Amino acid sequence: MLDTARWSVLAPLLQATTAGRDLLDDTIRRLGPDAVVAAVLAEIGEIEHDVRLDLAFAGSVTSCLATASDHVVCLDLADAVRTLYGTEQHWPSLAVRTPAAELGEGGMGAWFHRRKGYPEAVDAVLSALRPHREDLGTLAVRFGSDKWGDLHWYTQHYERHFARLRTKPVKVLEIGIGGYDDPASGGASLRMWQRYFQRGLVHGLDVVAKTVAGPRIMTVRGDQSDAGFLDLLGSRLGPFDVVIDDGSHRNDHVQTSFHALFPHVRAGGLYVVEDLQTAYWPSWGGAADGGPGTSIGMLKSFVDGLNLAEVEDPRVDGGYVQRNISGISFHHNIAFVEKGLNAEEGGPEFLRTLG
Ligand SMILES: C[S@@+](CC[C@H](N)C(=O)[O-])C[C@H]1O[C@@H](n2cnc3c(N)ncnc32)[C@H](O)[C@@H]1O
Repeated sequence: MLDTARWSVLAPLLQATTAGRDLLDDTIRRLGPDAVVAAVLAEIGEIEHDVRLDLAFAGSVTSCLATASDHVVCLDLADAVRTLYGTEQHWPSLAVRTPAAELGEGGMGAWFHRRKGYPEAVDAVLSALRPHREDLGTLAVRFGSDKWGDLHWYTQHYERHFARLRTKPVKVLEIGIGGYDDPASGGASLRMWQRYFQRGLVHGLDVVAKTVAGPRIMTVRGDQSDAGFLDLLGSRLGPFDVVIDDGSHRNDHVQTSFHALFPHVRAGGLYVVEDLQTAYWPSWGGAADGGPGTSIGMLKSFVDGLNLAEVEDPRVDGGYVQRNISGISFHHNIAFVEKGLNAEEGGPEFLRTLG
């Protein structure tokens, strides 16, 4: 159920993408050029032009898209990897090798005719390798996620908190794939995250078994109220840079999931809780005042935890969560908890009484 071998090629490849050329070449050699070619082809999907793409590594063309097109674009495999997953600063100047210049049947006229359309073919390949990096609101609309423009207006907040992670080889886990009881529907936000995090490995958890296709998407079936299962999931597939809770939104589930998964968030990472309106709704396990026992109550208690070194109230515990939170941001119905060591000293004792 937890497919730990799934990222055996992609995880090291995505890490090496922005490293020096020698290290990337070594990584490709170790993983096997054929496996890397397969990853590249899965990522770029269909090319909107009749063109054959050849990818060369260590002097030999290791694979190609099997079409009988006259237009053959041959690229270096490592350059293709860096173009696909890197940012502009990592983009190599792509050396496009033109097809062998044989006259063939029909002489010069036929040769020129066959070459017509070649620039468009090259452009189609390069566009597929360098997808436009749209903002998250645009991606939400494209993939049909309600995180912007329908029920919620979350993407502006996500953009702000996730910007520093966008080009990093992050691991993302989202609780709640969507589509509820229908196994065939859902996955809108997983597709959105896959496109937003260009080097991200995206995991979706849902209580209903779901299949969502995508080269960097993995789905897992499980219940977010099962702390033991979440701990196992975190140990096998984590640590995560980002965890998003968009699951049942039941107040007890939200708290169980947070305590089970927060230890599996990497330092510098973020744990996001969506749809906090249910904290104020008794029928969802909330309370009208959003007090203790509710999901927003749990998050509010972390504010005091952040200032642990100053707080003398024995109700504020100094447990794992409080010692590992470096920031919290609240927005309408959504909160971002930042993971980081909370070990700063408190103000000097004599100042406490001077005020
Ligand atoms: C709001 S939808 C998720 C939408 C999706 N994140 C998106 O933005 O496209 C909530 C999902 O949580 C799932 N869910 C409900 N209870 C759950 C539980 N206890 N554990 C895991 N998933 C659960 C539902 O099956 C449903 O598909």
